[in-house]
Amino acid sequence: MLPLLRERGLVTYRIGVIGGDGIGPEVIAEALKVVDATGIAYEPVTYDLGGTRYLATGEVLSDETIEGLRSMDAILLGAIGTPDVPPGVLERGLLLRLRFELDLFVNLRPFLAPAGPLNDGVDMIVIRENTEGTYLGEGGFLRKGTPQEVATQGSLNTRFGVERCIRYAFELAESRPRKHLTLVHKTNVLTFAGDLWQRTFDAVATEFPSVTTGYDHVDAACIHFVQRPERYDVIVTDNLFGDILTDLGGAIAGGIGRAASGNLNPSRTGPSLFEPVHGSAPDIAGTGAADPRAAILCAGMLLEFLGETKAAQRVASAVNESDDVLGSTAEIGSRIAERV
Ligand code: IPM
Ligand code: MN
Repeated sequence: MLPLLRERGLVTYRIGVIGGDGIGPEVIAEALKVVDATGIAYEPVTYDLGGTRYLATGEVLSDETIEGLRSMDAILLGAIGTPDVPPGVLERGLLLRLRFELDLFVNLRPFLAPAGPLNDGVDMIVIRENTEGTYLGEGGFLRKGTPQEVATQGSLNTRFGVERCIRYAFELAESRPRKHLTLVHKTNVLTFAGDLWQRTFDAVATEFPSVTTGYDHVDAACIHFVQRPERYDVIVTDNLFGDILTDLGGAIAGGIGRAASGNLNPSRTGPSLFEPVHGSAPDIAGTGAADPRAAILCAGMLLEFLGETKAAQRVASAVNESDDVLGSTAEIGSRIAERV
């Protein structure tokens, strides 16, 4: 039914739009310009969230707002963060809370770049576990503020959480031409969490005989990212390693201004959320210097996840073939929109 309705343009998606802080609203405006150019019918539902709003109202994210967002078909987020808000308030209270509450257990981050002086090109997708590990917030202080102070910060890994993420990564690898999946961890030191990841990986691998597998320690993976990224097709890794590796991924594939991510709920019990890997860059906000490509690629990933494959491909190609496009944030957005 849905494909038929789609073909006739009869589906109107409800897209939650969170511009956020700094360059967030600027790049999201360009992403929506490009979605408009695809002709896909959608209704944007704007949510005023982020550091600016927190400083003005004292509210980070209400239960009511979460319920509103939960009813969307998808969510597009620019960037969150203001220098005057202490670290953790918005990250934990907003971004991570959304990932946890909407059960966005896969963080999918693709990297694509032609061959360059350092390597033979990049074409990989990092699947970062998105609801567990050190990000869960397990830990605390003892004797805080005294010379005998103790702080712990644990990493929580459940068989259930690890397995569903690894299974998603295998399914993705199976759908790609190379069909190769690498587990990245630090099993030589993190002998509990690493062991659970490795055993789960090996067990799920038996269900995907056509997928070849590999393993790299995360420190070695950093070298390979820079010197031979062609080694990788799909990577699956834990939350913190994935956070760090994907900034490096951005750096080797066209810069962080092109790195897009999808926080996915593959079970589709609710909306998925798409956001650039970059932050709010308050230093360049309002100058027109922000590259909107990451946000535009996010909009493409959002369309792909909704099943609007053709529109998604048009957006992705327009961005990937836009190296000749220079100018301000709005000029780049308009030029890419013209080519969609
Ligand atoms: C990212 C960001 C977030 C993370 C922060 C802002 C909470 O760095 O999406 O990679 O650490 O996941
Ligand atoms: Mn990060």
